[in-house]
Amino acid sequence: MASRYAQVYAAWQKDPQAFWAEAAREIDWIEPPRVIFDEKAGVYGHWFPDAVCNTCWNAVDRHVKAGHGERPAIIYDSPVTDTKRTISYASLLDEVETLAAVLRDFNVGKGDRVIVYMPMIPEAIIGMLACARIGAIHSVVFGGFAARELATRIDDAKPKLVLAASCGIEPGRIVHYKPLLDQAIELSTSKPHAVLMFQRDQGHASLVAGRDHDWAKSVANARAAGQRAACTPLKATDPLYVLYTSGTTGIPKGVVRDNGGHMVALKWSMKNLYGIDPGEVFWAASDVGWVVGHSYIVYAPLLHGATTILYEGKPVGTPDAGAFWRVIEEHNIVALFTAPTAFRAIKKEDPNAEHLKKYSTKSLRTLFLAGERADPDTVQWAERILGVPVIDHWWQTETGWCIVGNPVGLGQLPVKHGSPTVPMPGYDVRIVDEAAKPVADGRMGSIVVKLPLPPGALPTLWQNDERMRESYLVDFPGYYKTADAGYRDADGYLYIMGRTDDIINVAGHRLSTGGMEEVLASHPDVAECAVIGMKDSLKGEAPCGFIVLKSGVTRPHADIEKEIVALVREKIGPVAAFKVAVTVGRLPKTRSGKILRGTMKKIADHDEWSMPATVDDPAIFEEIGDALKHKGV
Ligand code: COA
Ligand code: AMP
Repeated sequence: MASRYAQVYAAWQKDPQAFWAEAAREIDWIEPPRVIFDEKAGVYGHWFPDAVCNTCWNAVDRHVKAGHGERPAIIYDSPVTDTKRTISYASLLDEVETLAAVLRDFNVGKGDRVIVYMPMIPEAIIGMLACARIGAIHSVVFGGFAARELATRIDDAKPKLVLAASCGIEPGRIVHYKPLLDQAIELSTSKPHAVLMFQRDQGHASLVAGRDHDWAKSVANARAAGQRAACTPLKATDPLYVLYTSGTTGIPKGVVRDNGGHMVALKWSMKNLYGIDPGEVFWAASDVGWVVGHSYIVYAPLLHGATTILYEGKPVGTPDAGAFWRVIEEHNIVALFTAPTAFRAIKKEDPNAEHLKKYSTKSLRTLFLAGERADPDTVQWAERILGVPVIDHWWQTETGWCIVGNPVGLGQLPVKHGSPTVPMPGYDVRIVDEAAKPVADGRMGSIVVKLPLPPGALPTLWQNDERMRESYLVDFPGYYKTADAGYRDADGYLYIMGRTDDIINVAGHRLSTGGMEEVLASHPDVAECAVIGMKDSLKGEAPCGFIVLKSGVTRPHADIEKEIVALVREKIGPVAAFKVAVTVGRLPKTRSGKILRGTMKKIADHDEWSMPATVDDPAIFEEIGDALKHKGV
């Protein structure tokens, strides 16, 4: 089929408001939008400022009302607990309206924040939707973060309630969430009033009297009393959730998502970008703690009336590198969305895809990749073994949905390996130099998006309009700074090559090297430090920390390095995957004192590098190279 992309993108360019007004017809509004965009509201404008709606209604109730109550909404497939469970839209509604009544009993209502600290179990989705139902703002925290990270988020969001599960399950170990949660509440200055604890059979949590409540009992009581909460009418611009993501310091950014614009954009994307019809089975193999999980495990598939897969497992090791093929076959999955690192993990373990021979993946039409740069090798390998189009697409926590992609629903465009293809309607993407002047095709520059951002993208950061402006809007006036660098080719295809700030991407997880440096610097023996992301064949990037010890420290370097590794795990969490700390005599700096991290990275990556003209003492680079060699890097 010839692609309609050019025509659709041109229609959006010609009249963006008409385009989004049309897309908004797909949503059930309590009061439909009369004003489509108000450029005077908020930091850079607001979408659908006068509309009234409820996201939970659109994700759940409307499908039941339309007679699709028996359709599977969620298929929970958990190889780590050997459990499978299918939840129909009707039973999802029953669970959500009952839990929403429980939340209301805790005095949680419109505008109140609720932290969700849960693994990949259906109750996490039920919890998110129950919040959405009553207008409470959820903030999901990924289970791989340590107590201190959780505490930072609690202090910023100031939740009334925490929804938690007793444990998560990683291959070979149970991650007990309760001690982490207790420690986080201890560390935080803004204490939540209550904790609703979902007890899992794999590890029960002890409850603090007066504060902690048993989830199952509370729900059973509400059900016995016939309590159900109806959908609260909300302004389209009211926040649906806050999701924290790494910023350039240790303090994460609270990305706000609104109700109306988010629904419109995600609903549009399911058909036009991903090519999915209601009733089909869509699988985003991510985690509900990340933006991909929010948008494409939870909200988009449900808003579209599709079936979503909630997979509690890994691409390898649960039990083997055939896990993804089993899930595709068993649940008739039509599209899989994951990070390239998952495919690199499978390829490493099973390079000839022997496991694939045991399964049929004939239901699969498309593989979508995002979260990090999709290296051409991995894309080609996936194309070869699966025999379906492999579609890279680029987006960020901030945007909540795709910026640049290949819209298979509009007719797929030719794939060019290394490029996520073209901008989606809503995004006017430019490549510019430092003075915000456009650069020629083929030349690298900063990637910016002309304001306003489309529906679904962040209107602001949680209670911090100023940080929103400073982080994204001041460097290139009139544009949103993506902090990614790349180029456009003569066909208009974009290439996203890497970040311009200190964010690194480890196994598709976004982490701040600045945040890690704060932890390294807190070690009593460390005088100075620098953290870089070095190339990693599995995870894309892996952090590497350089430390300079205080004078007079005589303890063995190896002991201190081990402590540093443990400290990052304790303070940030296992997800940081911080395994390499190297002691050096000094750090390479410019004459004005800036650490030359870029050149250190090239040395660690064994890439070609040239001596920066501004370096204080060229000999330091040799010392860095020797220290890395000594460490086996
Ligand atoms: N709770 C607690 N700990 C967690 C966790 C969670 N939810 N998720 C990960 N961790 C831990 C891991 O157990 C690991 O701990 P370890 O150092 O003791 O081994 C550590 O955090 C690092 O995890 P990860 O980077 O995921 O590495 P891994 O070796 O466990 O797995 C992959 C590697 C490639 C298999 C895995 O990253 C993966 O499946 N990625 C898929 C991509 C993805 O989900 N991307 C999200 C955005 S789309
Ligand atoms: P996150 O906010 O966790 O989704 O991470 C966003 C960052 O991941 C982006 O700014 C990019 O640096 C990187 N990223 C995400 N998707 C892609 C992609 N398809 N190609 C290249 N980089 C990507």
